Amino acid sequence: MATLRGTTLLVFLGVLLLLLSTFRCEAADKDDGDQFFFGGLSKAKDPAVEPNIEANKLSHCSSSSNTFSSLHHETSYFSKWVTEIHFRRQLRNHFELKSANGFPLNAVPMQDGSVAKPLEEEVPIPEFGETKSMLSITVVGASGDLAKKKIFPALFALYYEDWLPENFVVYGYARTKMTDEELRNMISKTLTCRIDRRENCQAKMEEFLKRCFYHSGQYNSPEDFLELNCKLKEREGGKLSNRLFYLSIPPNIFVDVVRCASTKASSATGWTRVIVEKPFGRDSESSRELTKCLMQYLTEDQIFRIDHYLGKELVENLSVLRFSNLVFEPLWSRNYIRNVQFIFSEDFGTEGRGGYFDNYGIIRDIMQNHLLQILALFAMETPVSLDAEDTRNEKVKVLKSMKPLQLEDVIVGQYKGHSKGGKSYPGYIDDPTVPKDSVTPTFAAAALFINNARWDGVPFLMKAGKALHTKRAEIRVQFRHVPGNLYKRNFGTDLDKATNELVLRLQPDEAIYLKVNNKVPGLGMRLDRSDLNLLYRTRYTREIPDAYERLLLDAIEGERRLFIRSDELDAAWTLFTPLLKEMEEKKIMPELYPYGSRGPVGAHYLAAKHDVRWGDLTGED
Ligand code: BG6
Repeated sequence: MATLRGTTLLVFLGVLLLLLSTFRCEAADKDDGDQFFFGGLSKAKDPAVEPNIEANKLSHCSSSSNTFSSLHHETSYFSKWVTEIHFRRQLRNHFELKSANGFPLNAVPMQDGSVAKPLEEEVPIPEFGETKSMLSITVVGASGDLAKKKIFPALFALYYEDWLPENFVVYGYARTKMTDEELRNMISKTLTCRIDRRENCQAKMEEFLKRCFYHSGQYNSPEDFLELNCKLKEREGGKLSNRLFYLSIPPNIFVDVVRCASTKASSATGWTRVIVEKPFGRDSESSRELTKCLMQYLTEDQIFRIDHYLGKELVENLSVLRFSNLVFEPLWSRNYIRNVQFIFSEDFGTEGRGGYFDNYGIIRDIMQNHLLQILALFAMETPVSLDAEDTRNEKVKVLKSMKPLQLEDVIVGQYKGHSKGGKSYPGYIDDPTVPKDSVTPTFAAAALFINNARWDGVPFLMKAGKALHTKRAEIRVQFRHVPGNLYKRNFGTDLDKATNELVLRLQPDEAIYLKVNNKVPGLGMRLDRSDLNLLYRTRYTREIPDAYERLLLDAIEGERRLFIRSDELDAAWTLFTPLLKEMEEKKIMPELYPYGSRGPVGAHYLAAKHDVRWGDLTGED
């Protein structure tokens, strides 16, 4: 029955899209040459935006697929493509209900007396025959580190796991002169196969590389983007085209690239989307300016602001844990939670990135985005649905309810050189790209508060640092003491040691564990602290996908839930900008800490001021 309803819904959606597309094509037909942009550049009336008209003038570029009559024909394939993607999305969101021993859960009686069938493991993907749409992914800044280390490998992983559409090409775009073959050589060095399915790895890599091409061009040159457009069109071969641009470039050229790409290389028949990497400005003002400039060429729906922490498995699981388990949600408030800690630490410095980092510092690099985003997800109210806007609306409410950050609730540090075991580690200012008198923080700890009924008075502590003793990222939830605890005397005087703590370790070695008090087996009554531990590597054999894989796939599918909406971004900057300005005006000196240490002692005082102990420093884990 449910399947029948699902099929009817899909057919209905397909027909609706077809009608809508046809209607929009006809409207565009009458519009004196204005091109049709599905879900996209409705800004065609802006004189700065001349979508593809010039491209079409180039005879070798124009193909029949750009004429409106053929567009009518193509839209039917588009609706099929949407249906297919929709179907695959359902598979992605499909819960694999399994018990802890790995077997499907038993059928359970439903309220109406019927019995729910355990979900099958594999749902077949329907065959659509040859799909007539083409996805082109252009990685702008293709020779950069991020592209090499993260984006191309993530695209390959998606291809390897059959997540990409049948027809796709990947274009690298950068200033460096390179041939297609040279690009392939470059990226082949960082492609890896999933460790749990190594079959055909080499063959798959070769197939993937054959779909990778390169175009060298300036970032502010409309002509170069026009040439890219021609190449893309050739590859698209008249198919309905969807184009994704990934901007893996410094922020000062975002707008140039968006202007050139949107005016000269947008899709004329399908969607055009742009993934933008942080930093999205340095403060409220510059961020608003950037948003305003991008909006001259793109609609909000076309902009995918990426925060890769939102693509991490455990962050995605945060809402599942909370909203699908009855045991957690009732505890999720000031009534039971004493404090929450968001901890990020790296065991290496800014090696090689000092030039970028010095202009931003750890607060902008990690706290204002990664940690704040996780905080918002953690603290939000239950969204109306899993729809992107519902989740983002709830996150914005949290951000807007935050108490302004006080300077006295923040401490900053900077790592200094240190020698250990005959090896010496450089200080931050030893980096040749960093000014010798830099006071940029490489460590920060802060206490934040949410002024709403659920969280009033609960400290949300953040700690982020580079060149510390360990690499990890985690969320720690410390619960209140048990009132009138019968076993009080078994814990001694330190009741903090007996409070429950829930830890979500985002990385490395993903895990969720709950610290509980337990009786040590035996005839006496001795208690100890034990963990109820869900260690991913022992529970799930499957390798955990990289955050970029999830986010790239979401962008391709048009799923925006894990991307930052402009009002979210604005609220995040509104929280941090006054603090950052004050710190810069007052030239707050960071406390120095040795490379490889646990960070400045000031962080302990800050926590103690709020009656908190850092969970990662208790030595219990
Ligand atoms: C980036 C920061 O956003 O995240 C880097 O700019 C940091 O400074 C990186 O090293 C950490 O990401 P991950 O996924 O390795 O924890």
